[in-house]
Amino acid sequence: MSKVTVPKLNSYDRTLTVAPDKSISVRAVVLCSYAHGKSTVRNISLCDDVLSAIDCMRRLGANITIEGNTAHITGAPFRSCSVDCGNSDTTARLLIGLLSGLNGVFEVNGNMPLALRSMRHIIDPLRLMGARITDADGHLPVRIIGSPLGGLEYFMPLSSAQIKSALLLAGLNSSSTVTVTEKIKTRDHTERMLKTLNGEVTEDGDTVQCANSVLFGNDITVPGDISAAAYPLALGVCLNGSCTVKNVGLNETRTGFLDVLRKIGAKVEVSNFVDGAEPSGDITVSGGRLRPIIIGASDVSHVIDEIPILCALACHIDGISVIEGAWELCNNDSAVISATVAALKALGADIEEIDGGMIIRGGKKLTCGCIDPRDDHRIAMAAAVAGAAGGGVCITNADCVEVGYPSFFAEVIGG
Ligand code: S3P
Repeated sequence: MSKVTVPKLNSYDRTLTVAPDKSISVRAVVLCSYAHGKSTVRNISLCDDVLSAIDCMRRLGANITIEGNTAHITGAPFRSCSVDCGNSDTTARLLIGLLSGLNGVFEVNGNMPLALRSMRHIIDPLRLMGARITDADGHLPVRIIGSPLGGLEYFMPLSSAQIKSALLLAGLNSSSTVTVTEKIKTRDHTERMLKTLNGEVTEDGDTVQCANSVLFGNDITVPGDISAAAYPLALGVCLNGSCTVKNVGLNETRTGFLDVLRKIGAKVEVSNFVDGAEPSGDITVSGGRLRPIIIGASDVSHVIDEIPILCALACHIDGISVIEGAWELCNNDSAVISATVAALKALGADIEEIDGGMIIRGGKKLTCGCIDPRDDHRIAMAAAVAGAAGGGVCITNADCVEVGYPSFFAEVIGG
């Protein structure tokens, strides 16, 4: 599948499940591989990023078997080796933190797009703890000579769950506590999973601490990915239909997209709520008369992965939508703004890039066009939604969706 044609849809009334949460699945693979004993991870995502994490952890020594969508993981002391994180920045960043305080010599590597992303925001504070890391001018490959680590009190200049997670994982082997304070609270999946695995983690507002701890395996169930659910939900809203996505993660550090839908006037209902280690439930949305989307710097960390789909939605809403303040959080994928703007422009949208965001003059009829998602699965999926609700779209290199949501076209568009 490298070129996909998405037809114009006239209505969207669906009930579906979406891909399991990628952020939680990667953490489950990394942390259960490190924990003592056996873990079972149910409903694990088997997207490319999680497969990369599994490959890394097997190389480090963990025993991982997959049966259907369940992973059986037996942890092991890690051996010195070189790991390839593929495209998974979450795997690379979590591993750099975790491996820094262990015995051994490790090399963390990744593919070309990943090698372009900076690791400096992680390496600099780890060095303050005593980590011995050499890097390629702040990028992968990173070589780590595992060393005794001291504690850290760190105010994160950037809001990033990956940086926070790397530092907390270094804290598992540090001589005193790691304390991280965030400007804006980012996703807390690492904190929750550490607690499930016996890690000593405490939280107080936007400050989180991790103390030296021994992790033990446990059973983990991964909910559906709210970032994946955003695509069919947005399509239901764009086409003034209705959409129910069942068993979706409802961790409140991830539900910013639902808050935006409510703010613009869509009807959002949550049912079958389960308050587990990661809360989950069913989400139903329906459209109506919608107001433009306004997102500022303080909202952006809770919708950072949903910016392309919010832009696609904004194209179908009358009035001027503005997304601002995303520059600070684009340390992962700085090209996402310009790539989203280019893709939606190719469909005839009136969208303009501004510093750290975009302005969309919505309500203009979209036409059928051909777009290049520039290797970003979120842009391919957002363009598919914009096109399905507009005049159709042809997407080249559409297999980039394998990174996060392999069955997207069949499940969300085809159905
Ligand atoms: C992720 C955190 C986010 C997000 C990324 C996954 C994670 O990045 O954009 O897709 O799993 O921790 P930040 O580290 O910038 O918050």
